[in-house]
Amino acid sequence: MIGVEVTLADLPLRADLVGRSPYGAPQLDVPVKINTNENPYPPSAALVADLAASVAAAATELNRYPDRDAVALREQLAGYLSVSTGIELSSANVWAANGSNEILLQLLQAFAGPGRSALGFEPSYSMHPIIASGTRTTWISCPRRADFSIDVDAAADLIAERTPDVLFITSPNNPTGGSLPLQDIRTLVRAAPGIVVVDEAYAEFSDRPSAIGLIDQFPAQLVVVRTMSKAFAFAGGRLGYLAAAPAVIDALLLVRLPYHLSTLTQAAASAALRHADDTLGSVAHLVAERRRVTQSLADNGFDVIASDANFLLFGTFADQAAVWQDYLDAGVLLRDMGIPGYLRATIGTDAENDVLLDVSMKLQRMRENQ
Ligand SMILES: Cc1ncc(COP(=O)(O)O)c(C=O)c1O
Repeated sequence: MIGVEVTLADLPLRADLVGRSPYGAPQLDVPVKINTNENPYPPSAALVADLAASVAAAATELNRYPDRDAVALREQLAGYLSVSTGIELSSANVWAANGSNEILLQLLQAFAGPGRSALGFEPSYSMHPIIASGTRTTWISCPRRADFSIDVDAAADLIAERTPDVLFITSPNNPTGGSLPLQDIRTLVRAAPGIVVVDEAYAEFSDRPSAIGLIDQFPAQLVVVRTMSKAFAFAGGRLGYLAAAPAVIDALLLVRLPYHLSTLTQAAASAALRHADDTLGSVAHLVAERRRVTQSLADNGFDVIASDANFLLFGTFADQAAVWQDYLDAGVLLRDMGIPGYLRATIGTDAENDVLLDVSMKLQRMRENQ
């Protein structure tokens, strides 16, 4: 290996990045990996066959750059959103990128950056402040209540006072699982002076209406971000997208890298969308499992935060970091988000959920006997 004598401290790193930690959900090889909110069910054989054939066909044209604007894929995504929300969208309302993280980055590049600010309700998705930091956007944290809900009146006051250029609302919220009702989103958009990003990464697991229904009311402000990484079981494919007024997409065209979405990604995502009905069939089962795991944990004395997503935040633990290690030693990888007393578990297969429950009860008995 070359260059090992140089460390990060030797590099002329931007001063504001010194001492920061990279995003890092551990990727460990353990029997029950339920720490990154993936769909536990792999793609169907029919999807894999369609995807392989589509990618093989696309490979014959890899000497050419991809469709820079991914129009065919955006049409398919618009079709999916129109059917699932009942709101008519066209490809001009939809933009796609490599995961919703890239969508979030492009939004902050276009609407935030140096001298501008973004506000989020924490605890929430940890990449929002990290992408803000990477784009030199000032981050404003608005704490949630002790039960992880948002005090909407206090939030509207803070928004009016701090006038963030971008407001993040994650609904259902990661890592706490709860949703914000549309009337509350409307209140916050009215208070906000700029762009409001509603991050709906887990929308398919919730039976609440999408904020896409509010875009027509707030076309110069509202952006709804979605991903194929969760319900669509396509985390490895890296495909995120948004719904907004066409002008928002015009703004993103100014900052996106040319040809950002490869021909292979477009072909693979397109194949995954053709099998959407089949893939999304797992959602109802995961929701039923979420209810079963919630009930069982609650029956055994755990505090489980009500979730509309494919994960649960549960506790309470005197030392959640130590308990996270106990679960890992028992072969269960959870997520410690640094929220005192709580850990997050993704809803897995039935067998994985059984292991989670089994280990939870065993560890609880051990703690009681200490
Ligand atoms: C709320 C939220 N938004 C966005 C993402 C990013 O997903 P991806 O970049 O895989 O689309 C995640 C992933 O965990 C998330 O929880």
